[in-house]
Amino acid sequence: MSDSLMPVYNRAPLAVERGEGAWLHDTNGVAYLDCVAGIATDALGHAHPRLIAALTEQATKIWHVSNIFRIPGQEALAQRLTEACFADVVFFGNSGSEAVECALKAARRYHSVAGAPERIDVIGFAGSFHGRTYAAINAAGNPSYVEGFGPPLPGYAQLMIDDEAGIAAAIARPTTAALIVEPVQGEGGARALSGAWLQRVRRLCSEAGVLLIHDEVQSGMGRTGRLFAHQWYEDAAPDIMCLAKALGGGFPVAACLATREAARGMTAGVHGSTFGGNPLAMAVAIAAFDEISKPETLAHACAVSADLFERLAALATRYPDVIADVRGKGMLIGLKLIPNNRDFMVLARDQRLLVAGGGENCVRLLPPLTLTFDEAAEAVARLEAACAEARGRLAQAA
Ligand SMILES: Cc1ncc(COP(=O)(O)O)c(C=O)c1O
Repeated sequence: MSDSLMPVYNRAPLAVERGEGAWLHDTNGVAYLDCVAGIATDALGHAHPRLIAALTEQATKIWHVSNIFRIPGQEALAQRLTEACFADVVFFGNSGSEAVECALKAARRYHSVAGAPERIDVIGFAGSFHGRTYAAINAAGNPSYVEGFGPPLPGYAQLMIDDEAGIAAAIARPTTAALIVEPVQGEGGARALSGAWLQRVRRLCSEAGVLLIHDEVQSGMGRTGRLFAHQWYEDAAPDIMCLAKALGGGFPVAACLATREAARGMTAGVHGSTFGGNPLAMAVAIAAFDEISKPETLAHACAVSADLFERLAALATRYPDVIADVRGKGMLIGLKLIPNNRDFMVLARDQRLLVAGGGENCVRLLPPLTLTFDEAAEAVARLEAACAEARGRLAQAA
């Protein structure tokens, strides 16, 4: 591997040449069934014809203009997004971290312009992941991402998801600005929060005047079988929502959505981006949105997910010494393992199946929403072969 790259990634020894649907082909011509999908990004699979058409058509027109001009694609995508959920306004960025950064700034600024600048505290949760900017690592508080990067930023604290009393007390504090949570924790290991939890926190935040931020960077854009994960539940919608990953179906683009009220501090000059929402990104994201939001795409994702969960539950009963739990929602699935998850990812790769890691010793399955039933069966068959190998190794080690 090249030593001219900053070695911040734990890279698998696999160099991808091309992709098609749920399949990746490496530079040696070997095909892999891709249940990583760019970590929940390639929601429509690789090389989707509609995305290719949108990209190539836009490439011949205009790639980039500054946000000092109107960008019609932004207006069109913002209209689609706001019509599809609680939000009234959208800011476009390039990555999930930037969407989170915008959400946190909007929340503090909201209180500042409302005459309560002391409200700066942001409540986050153990096991969450919000990206790699300073604000994002401080909001999630994962020690391995924070340590060595200077003093912690003021105004960030994390609670346990099941600490009901602590959450209520923190929301009620007069210095609290916002609460940020992933409706389904992704990197934390596909941990789906219950509707009751999301509704309770929604109610508490409303009562206290605290802004509720949903980080749907991973769980959004159809990943759970609804366009946004919180839409599975009544009365759970946030004030601000972060999107990225599948928003562009693999093209870098992100969005911070908010109610007009929550965004009232975000006035001209207080925030911005050079590349955010450029015409090329907008063209692809509009095509991705129109495809993902089709009822048949979401219905297919729900049906394949149900099939996968059934097959995986059966696999877990056959391999209770390898799989401790099957969890998650929709196409954001976690297998909590007994053997080391990183070792298991290698065994899966030996079977030409790609899975992602996750917290709590999980591996995650994040296939394209377009995965076929046959491919779902094939993925589980390959997992079964990896489980058999893992069992053999556990027996050898005993
Ligand atoms: C829930 C969540 N938020 C934010 C991010 C950060 O996104 P990005 O890597 O695009 O900055 C991620 C990335 O995995 C994520 O899963």
